[in-house]
Formats: sequence, C-alpha cells, structure tokens
Amino acid sequence: MQAVDLTERRLVVAANRGPVSFHDDPSGEPVVTRGPGGLVTVLTEVLRHHPGAWVAAALSDAERRLAAEERAVEVALDGEVYRVRYVAPSRAAYHKYYNVVSNPMLWFIQHYLWDLGRHPDIRAEEMDAWHNGYVPVNGLFAKAVIDEVRGGRDGRRRRDQACDGSDALVLLHDYQLYLVAPEVRAACPGTFLHQFVHIPWPQSDYWRVLPEHIRESVFRGLLGNDVVAFHTRHYVRNFLRCCEYLLELEVDQASCTVRCDGREVWVRAYPVSIDPASLRAAADSRRARTAERALRSRRREFLLLRVDRMDLSKNIIRGFAALDRFLELHPEFKERLTFLALLQPSRQDVEEYVTYRERVERIVADVNTRHGTVDWMPIDLRIQDDFPVTLAAYAQYDVLFVNAISDGMNLVAKEGPVLNRHDGVLVLSEYAGAYEELGAFAIGVNPFNIEGQAEALFRALTMSPEERADRAGMLSRVVEENSVEKWVQAQFADIAAKLAAGC
Ligand code: F6P
Repeated sequence: MQAVDLTERRLVVAANRGPVSFHDDPSGEPVVTRGPGGLVTVLTEVLRHHPGAWVAAALSDAERRLAAEERAVEVALDGEVYRVRYVAPSRAAYHKYYNVVSNPMLWFIQHYLWDLGRHPDIRAEEMDAWHNGYVPVNGLFAKAVIDEVRGGRDGRRRRDQACDGSDALVLLHDYQLYLVAPEVRAACPGTFLHQFVHIPWPQSDYWRVLPEHIRESVFRGLLGNDVVAFHTRHYVRNFLRCCEYLLELEVDQASCTVRCDGREVWVRAYPVSIDPASLRAAADSRRARTAERALRSRRREFLLLRVDRMDLSKNIIRGFAALDRFLELHPEFKERLTFLALLQPSRQDVEEYVTYRERVERIVADVNTRHGTVDWMPIDLRIQDDFPVTLAAYAQYDVLFVNAISDGMNLVAKEGPVLNRHDGVLVLSEYAGAYEELGAFAIGVNPFNIEGQAEALFRALTMSPEERADRAGMLSRVVEENSVEKWVQAQFADIAAKLAAGC
C-alpha cells in the first residue's frame, strides 16, 4: 500500500458555526470574537494541523456582508489566521433549518428527548421546515463547499474549469449538514468526504419518528461520505445497525463498513478531547485568577459544580432534584456545601428551551427555599457564559456533576479533572460519551435515577482522601494521554489509509 500525503490536499471544513463571530459595535465597526461552543475549539485544532477554508453560516449582519463576497475571507484572531467563507440563507430559511429541523427535531431524536406519547407532531410546519429550510440551507453549504473545492490553491478561481476534487479533502461537521456530501460528490466525484457527527447516534427504532423520506435522506446523505465518524464505539454500532435495519444495506460489523451505491463507507469512532496545555494557559489568565480568588473567599467546605449549556439533554432538573433528596437524607451537610451551576443560555428561539429554562429556575427556587437558611442557599445558579469563572470553578470543585440524559462526548468531564486542585470526584452519567474513557475512575450514574444520584453525591462527599487522589490522578492522566491532537491525527491516519487502500 502506498503512503498518501494529505498535506497535498486542499482542505475544506464545513460546520454551522464559524471559528469567529463578527458583530457590529454601536458605531457600526465590525468586532471579531471567538465562535462559541466546543466544536469550534476542536475544529480550530484541525486547521492548525492542516490549514484550509472553513464554510459556516452567516449569523450576524456583518457576516452576511462577508457572505456577499462569495469567497473565503481571511480573519485574524489571537494570533491565528482563518479563511472563512460564509453562506447566507434567508432569515426564514435559517429559522426553519436551525430552530425547527436541527433543533429540536434532529437534536431531540439523537438525544432521546422526545416524549413519544405526546411529542413530536409532524405537521405541515415541520414538513415545510424540512423542504424550505433544512434542504435548501444544506444546498447552500454544498454549493459553497464545491466552490472552495474548485478554488485554486493559490487563491485564484477556477470555478468554470472541470474539477473532480481529487486534490481536495472535505470535513463536514454535525447534524445540521446531513445532506451536503451527496451534492459535493455529484459535482466533484474525486473529493474525499468525511463527516463527523458530534452528537449521539440512537438506536434504529427511535429514527422511525421521522417520515420515511426524511429519514432516508438523512442516512443517504451521511453515506455520501467516505468516512462517517462518531465519538464512541457505541454510536458506531447503532449507526451500523440502522443501516442494516432501516435501509437494508450490506453492513460488515467486524470491519465497521457499509456498502452503499457501489462504495465502501467506513464508520469509525474517535473520542474527541481537549488541549490540556491551552486550557492550563487560559486558567492562568488574570481574569481566571481573579475569578478563582473570589470563589475561594466565598466557598463553603464542599463545592459541587455543574457546567452546561442550558439544554434538556444535560438533565439539569433531575440534578437539582438529586441534591434536594441528598439534603433530605443527609441534613448534616446543610450549610457545608454549595452546588454551583454555571449554565450558558442556549437556543432561546426554540420553545422547548424557553420552557426548560423556566423550569430550571423554578426548581432552584424551590430547593433553595426548602433547604436554605438565613445566610446560606444550597444552589448558586448562574445563567451566563463566562469562561474565566468556569476555569476558576474547575480548579476549586470537590465534586463535578455530569448527569446528561445523553451526550455525544461531554468535554466538561475532561476539562475539569485537568485543572482541578482538590482531588475532585467526577460523578458521570453512564450515557455521556466520555463514560467509555473515564467511567472506570468516576462514580457512574443512571441519569433517570434521582435516588442513585443522591447516593452518588453522598459517596463522593464522603470518599477517603486517598481514593479521591487516586481517581483524580487517573482521570487527568487519561485526558492528558488522549489529547485533541490525537483525535485529529487518528482521523487523518484513517483518511490516508482509506485513500491508500483505494476503497
Ligand atoms: O456538537 C454539538 C454542538 O453542535 C456543538 O457545537 C456545541 O456543543 C453545541 O452543539 C452548540 O449548539 P449551537 O451551535 O446550537 O449553540
């Protein structure tokens, strides 16, 4: 087998969010900040490994103006230079694509969040959102990717020239872009297409929620890639079974491959991770150190911490119910602990998220009223997006609480142990992707079992210092030894192997 040099390939990355966000300040001047979310951080790592263009949706007026240029623009931020190409769907189409189909429809299916006796109702609005939102927005992404695949290496355009893409590598990311690959393949059949799904892949029966033609499009769309990637082996198995049961395709469970339209698609697991060195550097910033001093001066004997986007999949309400139960069972811990909940606001244009936030605020008020005293409240709820405070809290926690109903990976479970200085205990949902790597050194919990989560809190808070130190040491070691760099390298190695194998 001949080795393949991927550095020769032009790289095009596509994800709903870009590496940076442009906003107009009050004087109308564009301001650039880092794009939000863990996916942006890890894709930045990919581009550090192999420079290329990043196709993303224009979310602000400033980005819409850049989209009008119909080319990748260079943006510098924090010493890095990105080439970003924005696509600008109409606001109505973007709403249908993002707020109706991607979230909640696909997100809820993939995280098992639909309460099937009651939801979802697939009516004209949802069908319209698919046909006039998800499909055309994916089409716009595909068009931009094709254009970048055809763009000259030296920046000159060769759009009108025939180009089969055999010098290009396209990395598609996530559930917003399931329909992009087949269009790119049809236009540039030589392109190597790779799609990473950052969220869980549920069992086949749950996909039956979607009307058959939509489900087929999702699967056929993903199978338009050469490699389909997930965070865990469990999601790989689910995907392979779906291909067998729902599409009746030829699947080889041993080699994790699917035969589709005469091609062999590789289905692989690469557990995403973090970059411990840059996380430590961020924690050493002035703002993070100031935040840590503030936290330390106010902390009680024990600090319990959760850090999440305000998302139903994170199981925030059952977490507070578990604390409530724990304090009922163990009143001796009253006034000795604080449960700090750092929750970033999310998707507030989607009704389910608005209602969820209200329910979270209500249970916090209830638990605080039930157990609080004149100068102590058990829960310190902060709905904010303040990374320095998060870094400070990572250093200080005694218990890091991650009880997700379902979670692609959960990077909080990896960030916390790297920065923590208290031999903190990780309470980790068995249904978070991170459980495959970290479960042995965490206290595992079933996310639905509130009683079990209350017991886990007790076990964590009464664990011997020796056991805490052993477990904390192992957690940070596993993360240090499996950094995001390995994640990138493993994917590039498989891409090179598949190209070399010529299958
Ligand atoms: O992969 C999950 C993801 O798309 C990540 O980008 C991030 O964790 C989260 O969901 C962000 O969601 P949104 O872009 O909708 O805010």
